[in-house]
Amino acid sequence: KVTGIVLGIETSCDDTGCAIVDSNGKILGEALNSQQQIHLNHGGIIPPIARDLHKQHIEHVVHDALRIASIELSDVDAIATTVKPGLPLSLVVGMNYGKHLSRTSGKPLIPVHHMEAHALTIRMVQKVDFPFLVLLISGGHCLLAVVQAVDKFLLLGQSLDDAPGEAFDKAARRLKLRNLPEFRTLSGGRAIELAASKSTDPQAFEFPMVMAQYRDCNFSMAGIKNCVRRHILQQEKLHGVEGDELIPDVFNLCAGIQMAVTRHLCQRLQRGMEFVTLQNLLPRDNKTLVLSGGVACNTFIKRAMGLVCQHMGYSLAVPPPHLCTDNGIMIAWNGIERLCADIGITHDLDSVDIDSK
Ligand code: KG4
Ligand code: ZN
Repeated sequence: KVTGIVLGIETSCDDTGCAIVDSNGKILGEALNSQQQIHLNHGGIIPPIARDLHKQHIEHVVHDALRIASIELSDVDAIATTVKPGLPLSLVVGMNYGKHLSRTSGKPLIPVHHMEAHALTIRMVQKVDFPFLVLLISGGHCLLAVVQAVDKFLLLGQSLDDAPGEAFDKAARRLKLRNLPEFRTLSGGRAIELAASKSTDPQAFEFPMVMAQYRDCNFSMAGIKNCVRRHILQQEKLHGVEGDELIPDVFNLCAGIQMAVTRHLCQRLQRGMEFVTLQNLLPRDNKTLVLSGGVACNTFIKRAMGLVCQHMGYSLAVPPPHLCTDNGIMIAWNGIERLCADIGITHDLDSVDIDSK
């Protein structure tokens, strides 16, 4: 069995992350600089600002990870770096720094697909064998796939419009949740979850059942998003809400949004599981659903997914929250997976480029 140590770099969106992980799944060192607060103040991610912040932080984030691990760059076996998908301006910062480290150390580079990394993270913390089903729900993505090997994904469905995290982020902004001190520093998704937990009547607002009649496994947030907008406009008019004020029923509406998104995810997931059974894509007696991505931090969604799994004969595996959101650890671990399987390790740096999709 191949053993080794990989340094991983992540800069695909708004987190500058670096970690050093070994083939036993031990995290030797880790550092992360989140840009969340700055982007929250701008009401969304502005790519050139994200790029400048990555540039500003990448060097010390990598040095911190190495320092915490108490190792030198010459001690690692390879450098893994996210090259897709993501914001082009952000991706290029991490890739170029990864190439720079590879060039100066003579260690090979492992280009990493960010979604592959989200999907494989669970294998660092618990034994999950191929093939397994994965549902990735984040701010940028929503996809359901059968993972057959490190680099072999059978895509069953994806979002036709917004990702679930994006839907939460937009709703939180429209609802002006940040005007409540307790919510100021939270991501949109976390804010909706907290607000929903304060609801006294989660069924106060009606939401449509989206795409229930569609005979595929794709997802769509557009219907829920439009419905949120309609409810807010109606409430604002009804209560004469202006400026920085929040609608009086904001917590109940948040509970409704969380429920509508959860119900949609569960309904599409169950369709996917029925397809898996029909096509015999997973072993009959050993079916696992892996849930990951930032939205997989949501306790309500996790609990609902647990019920779907119970009903469909799956076991549910979810990485701890800090491994569900973007980080360098998952990239380093993906590097380990590729190192051990001998896939996509290169010294030809000119052949490596970013890809936004
Ligand atoms: O995976 P991630 O860190 O970045 C992307 O690759 O997108 O996910 C970030 C997303 C954000 O949209 C955020 O609102 C959402 O994950 N999120 C949550 C929760 N925590 C973060 N959504 C729902 N409930 C949460 N507790
Ligand atoms: Zn991500």
